[in-house]
Amino acid sequence: MIVQHESPSSALATPSNHAPIGIFDSGLGGLSVLRAVRALLPHEALLYVADSQHAPYGSRDNEFITARTLAIGQWLVSQGAKALVVACNTATAEAIALARTQLSIPIIGVEPGIKPAASQSASRIAGVLATQVTLRSERFRSLIERYAADCRFICQPGHGLVEAVERCETDTPAVRALLASYIEPMLTAGADTLVLGCTHYPFLDAPIREIAGSRLTLIDTSVAIARQLERVLDANGLRAPAGELAPPARLCSTGDGAHLHRLASTLLGLNTPVEQVTIGTHPIAHGNPAAA
Ligand code: DGL
Repeated sequence: MIVQHESPSSALATPSNHAPIGIFDSGLGGLSVLRAVRALLPHEALLYVADSQHAPYGSRDNEFITARTLAIGQWLVSQGAKALVVACNTATAEAIALARTQLSIPIIGVEPGIKPAASQSASRIAGVLATQVTLRSERFRSLIERYAADCRFICQPGHGLVEAVERCETDTPAVRALLASYIEPMLTAGADTLVLGCTHYPFLDAPIREIAGSRLTLIDTSVAIARQLERVLDANGLRAPAGELAPPARLCSTGDGAHLHRLASTLLGLNTPVEQVTIGTHPIAHGNPAAA
């Protein structure tokens, strides 16, 4: 079921610990992070925004991604969010630094698990699947320099994968063939670890395991992000009271919401209606789609 809403313009007062945690992604991928947050922090109210009208971000320019991140962050603050989880590696790579200067709530951002990959890889060769925007970002380069200078990373843009998950096609022959074309060269090169550097990719877990068997350890940072969120809430006195039952997660989409509803209900057992929201792009930019 889809409910339509316009975005309110006014910001609310300082949030209390009963306020929701805002989580956003370019589309459905951030549900993999929401799943981990829900499992670790069952008392927290959650407010999810899928910017499906503008997905994939991996084919957008940096200015556009920054503008959408700020606009959605501000919208979540206006809805009373007490903290923001940027559940999108691409948006974190391009926009989290600026968002931290513009938004008044704590912000946590998901990034590719380069550090855990480096600590787990025995062969010192690891594959990374992420968007082109993430792979070419300064933040990504700096993660490798800081944590994994002695490892070889085979970095593969996951062209076509976000689009497939957005269509709820998580295990079709076409998706399997695409994944095989990305993963088999990594196996041939001796990789024993695969970083899932995009929050959409954990939903492709089954076909990835089918291709790689036990030859690759998969690194997904959603559980680490949930733990980081827990630490940040505690440090700011923002944890929801443990005795209270959280309301059902509120799911919003800038698209028609049908696929968000389908994935949330089939993979997460979340049957709440999806609200269709309009969130204008931040005035710093009106981006142009650019080839990834
Ligand atoms: N889930 C986003 C990420 O983690 C996908 C980006 C996109 O829309 O291309 O990067």
